[in-house]
Amino acid sequence: MSLPEAPRINPSILAADFVNMQADLARIATADFAHVDVMDNHFVPNLTFGPQMVERIQATSPIPLDVHLMITDPDRWAPGYAELGAASVTFHLEAAADPVALARRLRSIGSRAGVAIKPGTAGEPLYEILDEFDQILVMTVEPGFGGQGFMAETMPKLHALRQEARRRGSDVWLQVDGGISESTIAQAAEAGADTFVAGSAVYGAEDAAAAVTRLRDLARAASLEP
Ligand code: DX5
Ligand code: ZN
Repeated sequence: MSLPEAPRINPSILAADFVNMQADLARIATADFAHVDVMDNHFVPNLTFGPQMVERIQATSPIPLDVHLMITDPDRWAPGYAELGAASVTFHLEAAADPVALARRLRSIGSRAGVAIKPGTAGEPLYEILDEFDQILVMTVEPGFGGQGFMAETMPKLHALRQEARRRGSDVWLQVDGGISESTIAQAAEAGADTFVAGSAVYGAEDAAAAVTRLRDLARAASLEP
């Protein structure tokens, strides 16, 4: 699979209409990946869907899937999402017993391996194991719900991860998720993000495809600034 260039915009289907998913997937056909939030009502206080629904989304989506697992025991459950064909599977560092072994397993199945950290989780423990991952997700809200406010206090951690990746010559993608909109995306791009999840900012727009293009343009302009 050829990979889309940065900046990448991944609309979160958490903000889609769950009973009109096929039509709402078609609305984001110009985006880079469909971001799929799996929540188990245990790791986070909200419940979405599991592998059976994700398998149908995979069969229906015009673009590849970026699965974000907000679940307990990803060591056990994450490989199933790679096996059903998700292009990228991201699990939470806070929930994984053996993050490196799990990332290797995801890659061996053929998906990209991502690791996510909550706003209160430090980025430094990832420095030594950066090469094990294709994507680091720096959460810019507490995971669990769409439509929350962007937490700018996570930006120094993102920036430090960007510098560390640069220092090591790593091509790991740095993703942000939560509160990304036309008014916050530039800050995240300046701090070093190259992959942006946006739920309400895309699905809340009259024209979702146009919202994706505007977000991408704003991120590109901000990442070009010195
Ligand atoms: C939150 C989810 C996000 C959410 C983002 O736990 O991981 O992907 O859908 O929604 P917005 O963009 O509305 O903050
Ligand atoms: Zn998410």
